[in-house]
Amino acid sequence: MTLSRTSAMNVARVLTESLPYIQRFTDATIVIKYGGNAMIEQELKRGFALDVVLMKLVGMNPIVVHGGGPQIGSVLEELNIESKFVDGMRVTDSKTMDVVQMVLGGLVNQEIVSLINECGGKALGLTGKDSKMINARKMLIERSSPELQVPEIIDIGHVGEVKQVNREVLDVVLASDIVPVIAPIGVGDDNETYNINADLVAGKIAEELNAEKLILVTDVPGLQDKDGNLLSGLDATEVDRLIEDGTISGGMLPKIRCALSAIENGVQSAHIIDGRVEHALMLEVLTDEGVGTLISSSTE
Ligand SMILES: Nc1ncnc2c1ncn2[C@@H]1O[C@H](COP(=O)(O)OP(=O)(O)OP(=O)(O)O)[C@@H](O)[C@H]1O
Ligand SMILES: [Mg+2]
Repeated sequence: MTLSRTSAMNVARVLTESLPYIQRFTDATIVIKYGGNAMIEQELKRGFALDVVLMKLVGMNPIVVHGGGPQIGSVLEELNIESKFVDGMRVTDSKTMDVVQMVLGGLVNQEIVSLINECGGKALGLTGKDSKMINARKMLIERSSPELQVPEIIDIGHVGEVKQVNREVLDVVLASDIVPVIAPIGVGDDNETYNINADLVAGKIAEELNAEKLILVTDVPGLQDKDGNLLSGLDATEVDRLIEDGTISGGMLPKIRCALSAIENGVQSAHIIDGRVEHALMLEVLTDEGVGTLISSSTE
């Protein structure tokens, strides 16, 4: 294939533009949360895998943590198991937990592993149970209302939160040319299996590894205000206000919370980007055109 002079100039421009980023992020750990809702179209999924392969090839240390809400929902539906949610969290009884493990740890995880491998990379699929990487504890939801004297505690089954990240296995993998792909399932001190929101897992891994970036890939342009306009950058104080007035809700809540926690705990920057944009990840990491929302600490 011969390039026209204009395309050749474009290629040269893009490569020159990306060089400082490649130099800056060599050896940097970049935790990428790949949202279940962003894993829709085949071409986009391949584009995502290519971006991850390129990142690893130029010397970065990408770690992929994936979600899978819609995929779990459709398998449960096929099995005639009802999906129930409390405050955006899936109520997870033992039967549902089995399906979550099958879908997240099997289907979704291995699909991403295969895509990365097909694009010339080497991926290793793990769940947080492997090597006890994600130590979880049961998440209890508190509900207060004026009629109740004390808050009501709601048990939503095998839903967990991250108590601790054991980085041992990650260190071994990151020292190689292999990209870890992690399903958000953890194990408790009680040896129970827990289904954990993938944003929370990605955030805690980023904190534990002192990552350069936490990138949350989702199905919206970023954090949006009440009128749907993209908020390209904001700090902790503004976030609190948006949570209070209900602008941030549902699946965006854990995203914002883990992004804030990450930057307060040593991660350099947290980004929420649109996985429906082709090569969104590459644009974020390697060009001047950051896409989506950047969350920074208010002291910056
Ligand atoms: N202020 C807001 N700005 C943007 N999106 C918002 C806002 N408040 C709530 N949301 C919702 O958050 C959703 C993204 O979270 P969601 O959990 O659905 O996806 P995900 O985390 O990418 O996928 P998964 O949970 O499967 O990993 C958006 O699709 C949107 O409906
Ligand atoms: Mg989510």
